[in-house]
Amino acid sequence: MGGKTVISDHGRAPAIRRTAGEIAMKDNRGAFFREHKYVVIDDFASAPECRELLHAIDRCKNTIGLIKVSQTSVTSRKRFLTINGEDVEENIPAAGRLYAKVNELVNRLSGTDYAALENKQIGLSINVTPAGGTFSWHHDRHEITAILYLNELDGGGELEFFPNNRVLLKNNREGIRKWLQLGFDALGLAASLMTRRKVIVTPKPGVLCIMIGTKCTHRVRSVIGDRERVCVIFAYDVPGKDFSREVTGDYYGYK
Ligand SMILES: [Fe+2]
Repeated sequence: MGGKTVISDHGRAPAIRRTAGEIAMKDNRGAFFREHKYVVIDDFASAPECRELLHAIDRCKNTIGLIKVSQTSVTSRKRFLTINGEDVEENIPAAGRLYAKVNELVNRLSGTDYAALENKQIGLSINVTPAGGTFSWHHDRHEITAILYLNELDGGGELEFFPNNRVLLKNNREGIRKWLQLGFDALGLAASLMTRRKVIVTPKPGVLCIMIGTKCTHRVRSVIGDRERVCVIFAYDVPGKDFSREVTGDYYGYK
């Protein structure tokens, strides 16, 4: 999927570009989230909070090192650096505290009792995407994904998604259903690109996007320019779901 295919490739259904100040859903965020399966909050974290986190992440680059993710297959392309939740909690406690704070917000908005994932490595992460880095169209394995942006970029790096566009089969990780799901996903993406409106979230310090990652097909556009895209990713699901290492062996953030 080339970087130039966005916005202009479905003129009948123009993209919705969400930037700070454009989101007029403050008073009714819960209702909006429950209907559309996403919400964007432009002032979740303050500028000093974001700066503090960025400094801590910079320190991690020198102390623990970041995990390099570089995977290309027929269906996906991932290219960025990451710090998994165990390292985040140990080295960047402020992000750990935010994991609990965002959990409360998600539960309030959704009216559902979501919980932090027991597998801390997956539940919380920080992604750093340099120029050329990207994450192609995909869905998440956990229901709720929240992304907090810490900085602004020279260009690219936008999160793009089609809200609630996925036909989601039950037990889609086993047997024939796994292949059926892949087929539905491919067709669903093709149909969405032709007919649906895409939400575009431009990175900006303090912006938080919450979505149902299993139902919204999403990607991160290639980063352009000298500034890295830095964001904190929070993952939640209903309590008790199995995200152990045995069933999540393909997770990109394991060391
Ligand atoms: Fe994702």
